[in-house]
Amino acid sequence: MTAGGVGHRPSGTTARTVAQAKVNLALRVLAREATGYHQLETVFCRLELGDDVVVRTAVRGRSIDCRGDAIPAGGLGAPERNLAWRAAEAYAWATGWPNDFAIEIEKRIPVGGGLGGGSADAGAVLRCLNALAPSPLSTDGLIALGTPLGADVPFLATDATLALAWGRGERLLTLPALPPRDVVLVTFPFGVATPEAYGWLDADAPVEAPAAAVRSLDAVQSWEGIRRIAHNDFEAVVAPRFTAIGAVLDELRARAAESGDASAFALLAGSGATVFLISSATPSTIAFAHEGTSGIVRTKTATRVVAVEVSG
Ligand code: C5P
Repeated sequence: MTAGGVGHRPSGTTARTVAQAKVNLALRVLAREATGYHQLETVFCRLELGDDVVVRTAVRGRSIDCRGDAIPAGGLGAPERNLAWRAAEAYAWATGWPNDFAIEIEKRIPVGGGLGGGSADAGAVLRCLNALAPSPLSTDGLIALGTPLGADVPFLATDATLALAWGRGERLLTLPALPPRDVVLVTFPFGVATPEAYGWLDADAPVEAPAAAVRSLDAVQSWEGIRRIAHNDFEAVVAPRFTAIGAVLDELRARAAESGDASAFALLAGSGATVFLISSATPSTIAFAHEGTSGIVRTKTATRVVAVEVSG
């Protein structure tokens, strides 16, 4: 996918990083505001799995080029709607720098699966531009730029591996990284449209508000604590509509229980469709091809966010 002219690309003004995916270890959807957006309470966790992102600024024109096996047959949609592109435009508009840029993305994160792939790319582009900028913004400045782009972008514009988030994902409390855990992602040949999933929550929600996920930070300082608060409000409305998702969740939970690993749990990723299992050691029996799934990706929870490397 290419937009705009690419121009010549002298070296010396290039930043690269890995746009690491996220999962939500807890996700509560609270009331819908007058704006139509919902208030959230969530625990974000970065994964090692990520897209490679390169941003060059000494170019003529603005362009974005996305490649990789993770891109679905139908493509990624119009370049101007790509979150990475919109992030770069927002940065240029807000800071007056740079006028032009070329973005290259090698996609590895499954697209449309609730893993924050597009948001991770946007966050990585903001971090790359900031690493090259003569007057970099603060992390709060990056969060402010990321907020209108979506609920996952503020967290993914920081260098935190774990964070509690509220509001629309822009109010963040970053937390110390936890020891790495194995993650198995089970993907599906379809996505779940996030706005529709919020609509199902509005339509199906019980009258009582859900309990807050986290009342004490003790809950997010160990995997055993996280397992106790692990929850995703979207499961109640997504699993009944996509039986394959419900079946995989049941199966992964049964395996987590059988494993005797007190910190193992399975959840839907964001609004889906990906389902993930977090455990201290991936059971070898996990190599299953469940009916209705499209694949399995093995990764780990991140213990660090890959730094932006500037060349030249
Ligand atoms: O944040 P993201 O871009 O993934 O959101 C996609 C859509 O999901 C929004 O346009 C909105 O309809 C809905 N949404 C919401 N409340 C939020 C986040 C998203 O209703 N806090």
